[in-house]
Amino acid sequence: MNSLRGTCDILPDEMKYWHFIEKKASCLLANANYTEIRTPIIEQKELFARGVGLETDIVNKEMYSFEDQGKRQITLRPEGTAGITRSFIEHKLYSDKPSYKFWYKGAMFRYERPQSGRQRQFHQLGVECLGIKDARIDAEVISLAYNFLTSIGIKELSLEINTIGSKLDRKKYEAKLVNYLQVYYQELDSDSQKRLNKNPLRILDSKNRNTQKILNKAPLLFDEVNDNSKQHFEILCIYLNALKIPYVINYKLVRGLDYYNDTAFEFKTSLLGGQDTLCGGGRYDNLIEELGGPNTPAIGWAIGIERLLLLLKQKIHINNEQLDVYIVSDNSIRCKVESIIMFNKLRHENIKVDMDQTNSTIRKKIKRAYKLQSRYCLIIGEEEIKKGKITLKNLTTNNDETINAHLEMAINSILT
Ligand code: HAM
Repeated sequence: MNSLRGTCDILPDEMKYWHFIEKKASCLLANANYTEIRTPIIEQKELFARGVGLETDIVNKEMYSFEDQGKRQITLRPEGTAGITRSFIEHKLYSDKPSYKFWYKGAMFRYERPQSGRQRQFHQLGVECLGIKDARIDAEVISLAYNFLTSIGIKELSLEINTIGSKLDRKKYEAKLVNYLQVYYQELDSDSQKRLNKNPLRILDSKNRNTQKILNKAPLLFDEVNDNSKQHFEILCIYLNALKIPYVINYKLVRGLDYYNDTAFEFKTSLLGGQDTLCGGGRYDNLIEELGGPNTPAIGWAIGIERLLLLLKQKIHINNEQLDVYIVSDNSIRCKVESIIMFNKLRHENIKVDMDQTNSTIRKKIKRAYKLQSRYCLIIGEEEIKKGKITLKNLTTNNDETINAHLEMAINSILT
């Protein structure tokens, strides 16, 4: 039996890359005073229908939903933002302080056509900053993604930003866009034809060359955006310039989730081919109120960890953590007892230790220690036991040291 299409096992050799990313992220985000939050993987289906938007691809085509035994409509979360806002409202976190800064990581589920960098179960690392509407927060949130990506060595980045204004602005623009595109209906790609009536703004994202050519002369969303949003955007650009974060303004960037307003942004890379968006985010000032909470502006982003890993593995090689000690012993019960005692003691001293469990000869066991690239091999043979000693072999220098079988001596020799 194999894993389900679009899902992947993360094998031990790959875990070191995950740990590297997770460590870097938790450290960087803790320094910026973001605290981790974990919400359930399953939520009420309605949360995403109301939060992400009924006409979005995510809700329309990609959700894993089912009825549970209590006849509830349940969905495996396709993204993290809706669950975090639900939690924020449910626990009335808004009553504590003026703003909340969260970060999260976890599995998300979307029924998409799998390909490199696109899975049905994938993982996101994200931040959400709830409570304040100020372009300085937008710049802070964007700079966190930028700092994180560059700190792990990803330099081939392009940050695209846009303002998508208010819901009303977009309604007005949609009407203009549809009017314009209807003339070219026959020339549009089939996906865009389908979107024309349901979700015309998504046509701006089309990767089809012909559709893009038609869009080049289409009306601009920016022209419909209200003055406040435009001003917010201008100030954001001032902050990004001050932080020396390079960006390009992409007036066609609209994002695929309905909850956004004003700032929208994506970090793309030239190194990944088709699935080139590493990070996507934006402002969602109305979501919390729409889900029944108080008026709370918010902004956040999420990075696709699998995409990040595809890139990271092209750039860095992380070695397996070296074993400090490999214990080998003769096969008598007496020697095995001594070896398990030593194994336990060394573990408690924070020394990375393993023990040969086979019944082969000491020579073969020592060979295995070399193969495992342990720093030391600790030998407990019949001779050693008789003399109350152990042999500590330094596998880097090949020097043997016979020491009294006292823990402190062994530890001192290993740690020096
Ligand atoms: P999103 O653009 O749908 O935004 O997803 C964010 C990132 O998740 C994408 O840029 C991509 O790297 C990764 N991603 C999405 N789908 C897949 C997939 N099928 N396989 C692998 N990676 C994938 C959101 O999810 C928003 N919740 C982000 C946000 C947070 N906005 C505000 N706060």
